[in-house]
Amino acid sequence: MKRLPIGILGSGKGSNCRAILERIRSGDLAAEARIVISDVLDAPILEIAREFFVANAYLPPGQFRTRLEPEAEEELVKMLREAGVDLVVLAGFMRVLHAPMLKAFPRRIINIHPSLLPKFPGLEAWKQALAAGETVTGCTVHYVDEKIDHGQIVAQREVAILPNDTPETLHARIQIAERELYPAVIAEFCEKCPAPDL
Ligand code: GRF
Repeated sequence: MKRLPIGILGSGKGSNCRAILERIRSGDLAAEARIVISDVLDAPILEIAREFFVANAYLPPGQFRTRLEPEAEEELVKMLREAGVDLVVLAGFMRVLHAPMLKAFPRRIINIHPSLLPKFPGLEAWKQALAAGETVTGCTVHYVDEKIDHGQIVAQREVAILPNDTPETLHARIQIAERELYPAVIAEFCEKCPAPDL
């Protein structure tokens, strides 16, 4: 069986990355994690990659706060290509991608966001949903484009907002949903391996 070669990018905790790597290890997900890359040197996601014996790398992002310096983004493309990655999986990667990546991997970069997009893009989306008085929120996997939390939606999972929810309890339930949804979406790409085109 051919396994879909994926690359995972993240800046932080890495709980989605862990969920994906666990599914691969247990044989539930016909993907192969070729590399995990972070723009944060001491990000726990890199430690998780090492725990699962996956190649991992720190990418110095350059001087900007919300995007990579163009040279860094070119370097990112090179690293992913050299690793033979077909699908780029953003898992808490806190930088907006631009032309070098979007051109190199058209419809091959996906992201997960903790709201039912197009509602509540941006930071702390669960707090935005609570403040707006919503009764349902959730998470969304979408293709990545040049705007924040914006590209075409691939799949969503709803999460009910309970009357006594705090930001913390709601966020925790959304993250549980994310850890189910993201591997399931990647599995769909795997079925269309080697040329996923959902
Ligand atoms: C997730 O909640 C995801 O929705 C958002 O960033 C968070 C990353 O969490 N894009 P983790 O690093 O996977 O734990």
